[in-house]
Amino acid sequence: MSDRLFIFDTTLRDGEQVPGCQLNTVEKIEVAKALQELGVDIIEAGFPISSPGDFESVVEISKAVTWPTICALTRAVQKDIDVAAESLKYAKKGRIHTGIGTSYFHIHHKLNSTPDAILERAVEAVKYAKKYVEDVEFYAEDAGRTENEYLAKVVEAVIKAGATVVNIPDTTGYCLPHEFGEKIKYLVENVNGVHKAVISTHCHNDLGMATANTISGIMNGARQAEVTINGIGERAGNTSLEEVVMILKSRYQVLGIETGVNTKNIYHTSRLVSTLMNMPVQPNKAVVGRNAFAHSSGIHQDGVLKFRENYEIMDPADVGINESSILLTARSGRAALKHRLEIMGFELTKEKLEEVYEQFLKLADKKKDIRDDDIALLVGDATRQEHRIKLDFLQVVTGKSLTPMAIVKLNIAGESFEASSSGNGPVDAAIKAVKQIIHRQVTIEEFLVQAITRGSDDIGKVHMQIDYNDSIFHGFGAHTDIVTASVEAFLDAINKLPVVHEAV
Ligand code: KIV
Ligand code: ZN
Repeated sequence: MSDRLFIFDTTLRDGEQVPGCQLNTVEKIEVAKALQELGVDIIEAGFPISSPGDFESVVEISKAVTWPTICALTRAVQKDIDVAAESLKYAKKGRIHTGIGTSYFHIHHKLNSTPDAILERAVEAVKYAKKYVEDVEFYAEDAGRTENEYLAKVVEAVIKAGATVVNIPDTTGYCLPHEFGEKIKYLVENVNGVHKAVISTHCHNDLGMATANTISGIMNGARQAEVTINGIGERAGNTSLEEVVMILKSRYQVLGIETGVNTKNIYHTSRLVSTLMNMPVQPNKAVVGRNAFAHSSGIHQDGVLKFRENYEIMDPADVGINESSILLTARSGRAALKHRLEIMGFELTKEKLEEVYEQFLKLADKKKDIRDDDIALLVGDATRQEHRIKLDFLQVVTGKSLTPMAIVKLNIAGESFEASSSGNGPVDAAIKAVKQIIHRQVTIEEFLVQAITRGSDDIGKVHMQIDYNDSIFHGFGAHTDIVTASVEAFLDAINKLPVVHEAV
């Protein structure tokens, strides 16, 4: 068995399914290019039949990316496969990823079918996809809860039909690591012709076992791992790329398996995905979290200073974390900011750098400890598209025994509008004032506030979901003033409403 593991990245498909994480095509191309630089073998670029946007993204990523295989997802449905093949027409190497549920639950309660009929559909789908591309991957959805004997029958049949890769997803994140490993071992030992295909893992993290299951699968013969950056994905997410790659690197003596990933690009890619998707990385996230290499207790600091490996099993530089010795403060010049941005992997035009620098100075006046997360947010702000409705002015009066009041001025396509309102708290007052101007019947469905760094002078991030005519729109805002961040998030969502030109 080969000692090379193929890395199949599904950040742009399974990862992008997370509510509020949707990217536009330009952003997806940026992520795809970063994944190429990172050295992943396969990029799952989308589910083309699901929307015109997904279709277009697969087309454009196929054009933009040179060497990784571009993969398009389908159900075991001919129309899906036709559309996926069409979306891959510019791919230098294209793969169709087709499949169907194989567990008792899926066969009986989702597909209303029988095991024999499902096996037939699986074979037909692979044969149909083979008409378009040589490289066909088959997924047995919910394989984690599929009985091994039946699963082996399906795997054998799809390999015979021409599948080059067979994906064994633990769709619901149910398996224990030893169970998942045994499942892969069973297939390797019991499927005739198994050596003709690569067996793949695709684990979800519902019980926090995605990475453990993936590693167990690899130890038992899987040679492709399906992963996402920062572990984003449906529900509790997918196996995270950075964890699998760094486990294989750090424990090479035991596992003896390599990947083609340039680990020094991990941190940059993690931050890029987090910034573009407005999805903060949890501080204690393995490998890429803010605290992953931070030593706070005196004993640990002392130990690390004496000998780094006393408390560090990975060198932060190996994942691209280069702690800068240059402290950014309000006195830092453009060159220092540019240097830090380059370390973080951002290359900005002169104009954008100027814009970010101005924002940086304003922030540095309010906040003494400027961290990489803050800078990433400023870059996000400066590269975000111009909104038609902008916040020009916001003043709130609030206090323990005062009725909160807000005055808001909006600029809508160059015209200025003003309103004031009281409310049940300063955010409520400000949003009510905005609503007086925009006259939209919207309701806030979700309102999430996070401080992303430390201290009371942190930047607050606000995610908002609004309901308009039974459709959900997401908005995001970031500011040291949480009321401003909330209004910005509200306006970000409002700007996405289809009839926004008719506002006011
Ligand atoms: O989790 C899953 O089963 C999937 C398949 C579509 C591969 O994402
Ligand atoms: Zn999945």
